[in-house]
Amino acid sequence: MKAIILAGGAGSRLYPLTQVSSKQLQAVFDKPMIYYPLTALIASGVRELCLISTPDDLPRFQALLGDGAQWGISIDYRIQARPEGIAQAFIIAADFVGTDNVILMLGDNIFSGGDDFPRAVSSFTGGASIFAYHVKDPQRYGVVQFDNAGRAIAIQEKPQHPKSNYAVPGVYIYDHEVVKIAQSIAPSARGELEITDVNLEYLRQGKLQVRRLSRGFAWLDAGTSSALHEASSYIEAIERRQGIKIGCPEEAALIRGFLSIQQFEALIAHMPRCEYSDYLRGVADEWHRLQRERA
Ligand code: TTP
Repeated sequence: MKAIILAGGAGSRLYPLTQVSSKQLQAVFDKPMIYYPLTALIASGVRELCLISTPDDLPRFQALLGDGAQWGISIDYRIQARPEGIAQAFIIAADFVGTDNVILMLGDNIFSGGDDFPRAVSSFTGGASIFAYHVKDPQRYGVVQFDNAGRAIAIQEKPQHPKSNYAVPGVYIYDHEVVKIAQSIAPSARGELEITDVNLEYLRQGKLQVRRLSRGFAWLDAGTSSALHEASSYIEAIERRQGIKIGCPEEAALIRGFLSIQQFEALIAHMPRCEYSDYLRGVADEWHRLQRERA
C-alpha cells in the first residue's frame, strides 16, 4: 500500500494565518498539522508516501519532512498547480501509484484513537474503502446514506438536507483503478474533480466499502480558526491527561519497527532540548525498561 498526502488548497478560511505559511504547516498544539496525518499513515504500516502541495508551499514541506528516511519511510513530492479538486491527486501522482493500492489522506485531517485505519489497510483487498463518522453538521461534508442492512447506498456532496449524520472523513483507500476513474470524471459545477464522484463510481460498480469509525475515535478538521483552536485544545487535553503524544511520527516509526531503537535515539540526539525531545527520550527509556523486563 502506498499513500498520498494532499496538502495544497488555498486555506482562505484561515486568512491571514495562511498568507505566508500553508494551512497544513500551522501548529496544532505542539506540532505542525501535517504530523497528524503523517503519523496516522506510519501507524498504518505505510512506508511509501507522496506529498502533494502548491508550488509555493512544497519547498516548505520538503524542508520540514525531507525524504522521510529519518522515519524509515520515503516521501516523494509533487505539485498541484491549482486547487482543482481532491481527486486530481491521483492524476498528479499516477506514476507514483503505478499498479499499487493507495491510501489518500488530507493534510488537514486530524485523527486520534482506535486501530480503524491499520485494520482497514491490512485487510484491504481491492475496490474502495472509505469511512463514515457521526457528526452534528453533516451539511459541510460528503454524506453517506445507509440502507436498513447498514449498506451504503448513496453519497451526497454537501447536501442541504442530509439523509444521515455520517460524514466521510478525508481518508480514502483505493486499488490502482482509481487513477483511471479520476481521469474519467468531469469537473463539478465548482470546477473541481470531486472525490465524491470517484466514490460514486466505485459504488456504481458495487466495489465501495464504507466502514463506520468507532465511537471513541476522534476526527477533527482544522479548516477555520475556531476549528484549529479546538483541535489544539483537544490534543493538549488528551496529551496532558495521558502523558502520551498524538501525531508523533518518530514514536509511530519505532512502534511499527520502521526504526531500530538505535536509529530512534540517534534521531533524538539531533533535536534541541525541548518538551518534544524530552517526551521521545521517555519513550526510549520505556522501550529499554520493557526489554529488560522481557530478558
Ligand atoms: P478545503 O478545506 O476544502 O479547501 P482549502 O484548504 O483550500 O481551504 P479554504 O476552503 O479555506 O480555502 O480542502 C480540504 C483539504 O484538501 C485541504 O487539506 C486542502 C486539500 N486540497 C488540496 O490540496 N487540493 C485541492 O484541490 C482541494 C480542493 C483541496
